[in-house]
Amino acid sequence: MDHEDKKASEATARVFSGGLNKKQVIDYYNNWEDYETHLQPGRYNGPLYAAEAADRSFPSNKDTVQILDVAAGTGEVAEELVKKGFKQLDALDPSENMLRKARAKNIYQKIYCEFLSKEPSPNITNDAYSCVVISGGFGSGHIPPGALVELIRITKPGGMIIIVMREEYLDIEEYRDSLEPLMEKYQKDGLWELVERSIVHKYFCDKTGVIFRFQVKHKSK
Ligand SMILES: C[S@@+](CC[C@H](N)C(=O)[O-])C[C@H]1O[C@@H](n2cnc3c(N)ncnc32)[C@H](O)[C@@H]1O
Repeated sequence: MDHEDKKASEATARVFSGGLNKKQVIDYYNNWEDYETHLQPGRYNGPLYAAEAADRSFPSNKDTVQILDVAAGTGEVAEELVKKGFKQLDALDPSENMLRKARAKNIYQKIYCEFLSKEPSPNITNDAYSCVVISGGFGSGHIPPGALVELIRITKPGGMIIIVMREEYLDIEEYRDSLEPLMEKYQKDGLWELVERSIVHKYFCDKTGVIFRFQVKHKSK
């Protein structure tokens, strides 16, 4: 790990390693000026992995796929999705300053400045998207496990939910007994089906990532 990787790791650890509440997490992102230097492609490959997973999910007619990029940040995932041919992209993130940088890229159509939580967003209708993608949005103080139901609510039956995150975060206290168990419960309940669970190298520096792809099934209304 070189000096720049070390600085990026330290900056990332401060917001992901626990002890921060929701407001402190967003304040941190709002003031993280070097975010795109620290989390640049090559060092942070979540956006690329997310776009590749979307590409595997929708091999054709990409320009018709309506995608919500959750925890969109500065729009790095959208930049990779555009390279793959996706065009209809909306963003959701609670950090105004991260979204300001994303907005300047002119990639997204709608932008929602809000948290993803278990409560339904009043601004997003049921079954609104063919695909919801999240890279780097799961970790301590970030998206709670209970928000998986909201992902299912806003995704059309037959649509895809793609989650890319650091593998070791599956084992943090907030997720250990709830995130994958809930994923499994929703599979048993017939709400979605796991299409892929794969481990990838160099998700962030030398850390491995995990990619989940779920296909949404029927939903009781
Ligand atoms: C590491 S950044 C990832 C940004 C982008 N997805 C990427 O991969 O480049 C994490 C983002 O999660 C957002 N975030 C934190 N808690 C969230 C929540 N509950 N709902 C949605 N986004 C959240 C932060 O504001 C931040 O922009």
